[in-house]
Amino acid sequence: MKRIALGFADRAMATELSAILAEIEQVEVVGVLTSSAELVDHCLRQETDIVLIHDGLGPDSATSVIRDLSFRRPGMASLIVSSTGETQTVVDTMEAGGRGVLTYPFVFEQILSRIANASAWVDQMGAVLAGRAAGAGVRRGKVVAFAGAKGGVGATTFAAHLAVDLHQEWPTAKTILVDLDLEKGDVSAMLDVRHTVSIADVAKIAGDMTIDRIQDATVVHDSGLTMLLAPQDVREVDFISPEALRSVFNHLRREYDVIIVDAGAHATPAQATVVELADEVIAVVTADVLCLRSLHRLTTAWESLGVRKEHDVRVLVNKVDKSDLFPSSAVPKLTRAPVFTTEVPQMARYLEPAVTNRDPRAVTEKQWWTLIREIGRQVTTGPDAPLPAAAAG
Ligand SMILES: Nc1ncnc2c1ncn2[C@@H]1O[C@H](COP(=O)(O)OP(=O)(O)OP(=O)(O)O)[C@@H](O)[C@H]1O
Ligand SMILES: [Mg+2]
Repeated sequence: MKRIALGFADRAMATELSAILAEIEQVEVVGVLTSSAELVDHCLRQETDIVLIHDGLGPDSATSVIRDLSFRRPGMASLIVSSTGETQTVVDTMEAGGRGVLTYPFVFEQILSRIANASAWVDQMGAVLAGRAAGAGVRRGKVVAFAGAKGGVGATTFAAHLAVDLHQEWPTAKTILVDLDLEKGDVSAMLDVRHTVSIADVAKIAGDMTIDRIQDATVVHDSGLTMLLAPQDVREVDFISPEALRSVFNHLRREYDVIIVDAGAHATPAQATVVELADEVIAVVTADVLCLRSLHRLTTAWESLGVRKEHDVRVLVNKVDKSDLFPSSAVPKLTRAPVFTTEVPQMARYLEPAVTNRDPRAVTEKQWWTLIREIGRQVTTGPDAPLPAAAAG
């Protein structure tokens, strides 16, 4: 049943229209208002689906009432009743957000069809608005994946250190670290945890996946960071199909704000899956010919698999040593992918305590954390987005 309000200064006209509407199924007239102010007030307070406004209503013009209502009650259909039937009235009504024009003297068939259209529109709009409201309550976490152009360049280091840093510095956001370097799985070597469960345990339950069951398979590091690890037993890798992974990430996106992934250095099906679905893919390189050749091979593989274009990958240059023959400034010339202006110097001495203690927090060098923060800022909120207060540091 659609609830209709009438805005008519002329009572006789309103009575005539009410009588016609009474013959139409699925509609009822819930109010007849004689001024624009009363009409707007009624529509804002009482549940109303359709408003029919006479162009002689005052003091505010009918089009201004329509404009006001379509802004404040976007799910309501407003139609104008025109005694003049001028083209300009139609144009003005539509521009103001109205759904149609009825002419006076009334024609039953015309009213019937206009009301049917308006009702259908109200139903559609209701569904759209309900979907938007439901969507607004759902988080949609950002997936940020680090892949190594070749082995040993630092992909796991960045993924782990960035996740730990985000967790500490941006406590209002929920962060999770996912190890998708399935063959090697060295996140747990970098962060000391009891490794009993893994992403394979979630993949096994494919069809019955829920966020609770995913959380049962996570482990928590001393720093409080939640992690979903790679399986210890390589035979378990077979369970982790691209479909299962997509489902895992769909669930994670609903629960977490930032999902940091170690995607390893090999173009495996798991890597391709995450490279395709990630919001940001960072290829970590070192500034040397061999590594840039590997980068080219990797991005070509992603392009030919159709999972990601080279220019949608960001390149991060690590272990920069000014005394190297190959200058890091040459990297942007050798790839179509955008290269981070932030480059990370060779810092083995400072990173050593993190490796020994299996805890990124053991790194005390400020410069390291400044760099991690800079990289994080660019990939978690995007360069234009406002920064979360804590992470802005
Ligand atoms: N900027 C840096 N300066 C010096 N050493 C670094 C730097 N970044 C990372 N490392 C060191 O390089 C080694 C390899 O790093 P990491 O394990 O993160 O690489 P990876 O790309 O994940 O390698 P793998 O292919 O083995 O997974 C580690 O010992 C790490 O501490
Ligand atoms: Mg690694």
